[in-house]
Amino acid sequence: MATSTYAKATTLYPYLKNEIFPQLAPPPYGRLKITRLSYQKPVYLFSEWTKRIQVVGKVFETELLSSEEAWQRTEREYFNLKQLREKFGMNNGRYRVVAPLGKNKELSALLVTDRAPGKILDFYIADAIYGHQSKRLFEKLSSLARFFVKLHRNTELDRSVSLELPRAYLDNLLQSLSKGPLDAAKRTAIESYAANWWEKEGMFTDHEVIVHGDATPTNFFLPHREVIGIDVDKMKRADRCWDLGFILAELKHHFMWRMGDGWAAEPYIGHFLWEYAITYQNEQFFYTMTRKIPLYMALGLLRIARNTWLDEPHRKNLIREAKRCLKYGL
Ligand SMILES: Nc1ncnc2c1ncn2[C@@H]1O[C@H](COP(=O)(O)OP(=O)(O)O)[C@@H](O)[C@H]1O
Ligand SMILES: [Mg+2]
Repeated sequence: MATSTYAKATTLYPYLKNEIFPQLAPPPYGRLKITRLSYQKPVYLFSEWTKRIQVVGKVFETELLSSEEAWQRTEREYFNLKQLREKFGMNNGRYRVVAPLGKNKELSALLVTDRAPGKILDFYIADAIYGHQSKRLFEKLSSLARFFVKLHRNTELDRSVSLELPRAYLDNLLQSLSKGPLDAAKRTAIESYAANWWEKEGMFTDHEVIVHGDATPTNFFLPHREVIGIDVDKMKRADRCWDLGFILAELKHHFMWRMGDGWAAEPYIGHFLWEYAITYQNEQFFYTMTRKIPLYMALGLLRIARNTWLDEPHRKNLIREAKRCLKYGL
C-alpha cells in the first residue's frame, strides 16, 4: 500500500474477507491479487479468485498529508458517495456513482468501493482525436450530460447561486499559478476581465445544486449508455456550471494538447451543453446557461494549468485561453 506493501497486506486480506467480500458473495474466499490502477495515486484493484469479486481500494495517506487529514478525506468521500446513493437516487438506473463498501483508518486511510465497469471518458476523447471516432464521443457526451442532469435535478436547493465561490476560487488559482507559469501582467489582465463578471450578478439567476466538484475525464466510466461517477471528495453546493464548465475546459485542453487545435473541441462543447439544457428544461435554458459558461470554463482551464506534469508552453496556452474566455465570453 502507500507505505509498506507487505506490512499492510497481512492486515488487508482479513479486513477484506471479514468486512468487504461478505457484502458481495458468501465465503469461502480464495487468493487475492492486488493491481495498481493509477500511476499518480495509490489506487488498487483487489481481485478475489474463487468468487471473482473485484473491488477498488483508494489509499488517502501520503507523505504530503497528515494521517488525520487523510482520514478526514476518506470519511468525506465515503459519506458523499453514501449520500448521493441513498438520498439523491444515484444508486440505480443508468446514471449512478460507485457504492462505498468500507473505510479503514489503520490501512493507511483506505476507502473501498465497488469496481466501475467500462472505460473512462478520457479513452473516448483520445479515440475521437487519434482514431477519428467522433460519433462515439458525441454519444458518450450525451450520456454524461444526462448523468449531470440527474445529479443536479435530484439535488436542487432553494438557495440562489452566488458569485462568491467562483471569485474565491479564481483568487486561489491565480495565487498558485503566479508561483509558476503566470506572469504579473497576465494576472492583472485576468483580474480586470474577471472584475466585469463580478458586476453581472443578475446574469446568474439559478438555484444551487450539488456538484460532483471534480469533473475530469478520468472520473466517469461510460459502459454502453451508462455513466458511473467516482472520486467525489470535492462534492459541494454550487452553480451547476461548476461541473459543466470544468468538463468543457477539459475537452478544450485535450484538443489543444493532443491535437494542437482547441477549435476542434467546439462542436463537442456545443453538443454537450445542448444535450444538458434540453434534457433539463428547454431551449431557453441553453441560452441562459451558455452566457455564464465562459466564466466557469476559465476557472476549469486555470485549474488544469496548475498541473506541473504539463509542459510550460501548454500551461501558458491554457492561461491565454482562460483570459480569452473572460474577455470575450461576457
Ligand atoms: N471504483 C473504481 N472502479 C474502477 N476504477 C477506479 C475506481 N476508482 C478509481 N479507479 C481508477 O483509479 C483512478 C484514480 O482514482 P480516483 O478516485 O479518481 O483518485 P484521484 O483522486 O487520484 O483522481 C481513476 O481515474 C480510475 O482509473
Ligand atoms: Mg480522479
